[in-house]
Amino acid sequence: MYKDQKIAVVIPAAGNGRRMGTNEIKTFLKLRGRDLIEWTLRPFASCGWIDQIIVVGRKQDEERFGNMLNKVRAELWEQEISCPEMSFIIGGADRLESVDNGLHQLMDDINFVMVHDGARPLVSQEVIERCLEDVFEHNTSVICVPVKDTIKIATDDHFVESTPDRSRLFSIQTPQCFERNLLLRAYEQGKIQGLTVTDDSGLVEAFGHPVKLTLGSYNNIKVTTPEDLMLADQIMAGLEAEENS
Ligand code: CTP
Ligand code: MG
Repeated sequence: MYKDQKIAVVIPAAGNGRRMGTNEIKTFLKLRGRDLIEWTLRPFASCGWIDQIIVVGRKQDEERFGNMLNKVRAELWEQEISCPEMSFIIGGADRLESVDNGLHQLMDDINFVMVHDGARPLVSQEVIERCLEDVFEHNTSVICVPVKDTIKIATDDHFVESTPDRSRLFSIQTPQCFERNLLLRAYEQGKIQGLTVTDDSGLVEAFGHPVKLTLGSYNNIKVTTPEDLMLADQIMAGLEAEENS
């Protein structure tokens, strides 16, 4: 289906995991017997639609990332699954800088670039596929889910200012995928203007390009605090039980 398109994935995993509060960074915390980053990487590495994967990590973790990539390569080899080009690059002071470092490693023939948080180990091939389908049609695709809670906008002194219509509110996740040059130009402009957006889509929005919202999954949580790790474990156990039933 995607033979004509060359797709790269940048996985920012260079954070310090401060909110997790453990000595070990999130990337290498164990989740059902594997490093968290292995779970994140595997659906992309094994789906057969991806041509290049760039994992971004901290300088002091370079060797561990190298070992992890070798392990995933060996496992795919054993399963006779052809492995995309995978490499490690050192990250920056914040997420945008880390992604930007990854973008400098893109192979020349890549047409579309997906960005996916290292800390989202529950991404599924189904969500990746939906993201790709939309990006081929719209040049942009941002994975999201409808918010379940009612959201209030607060004043500075914490009174309710307004209540936006919930049916138009979405929680934004990753993956987020963009046509290569659109994303590169949005990053360039964002850097010049010193924008401090919290996701890649924010830069593309500021660049003035429409961004397509693609329905994801509530399972695709970001592991941020200790209770997220427990939740991720439970979701994985549930999915495994479903598969085996
Ligand atoms: N990230 C990165 N480079 C940074 C900061 C963050 O690549 N300088 C990555 C993280 O590794 C993570 C993703 O961006 O995969 C989302 O960030 P977040 O969940 O905030 O992770 P951390 O920054 O590691 O956690 P914290 O904010 O609690 O320190
Ligand atoms: Mg952070």
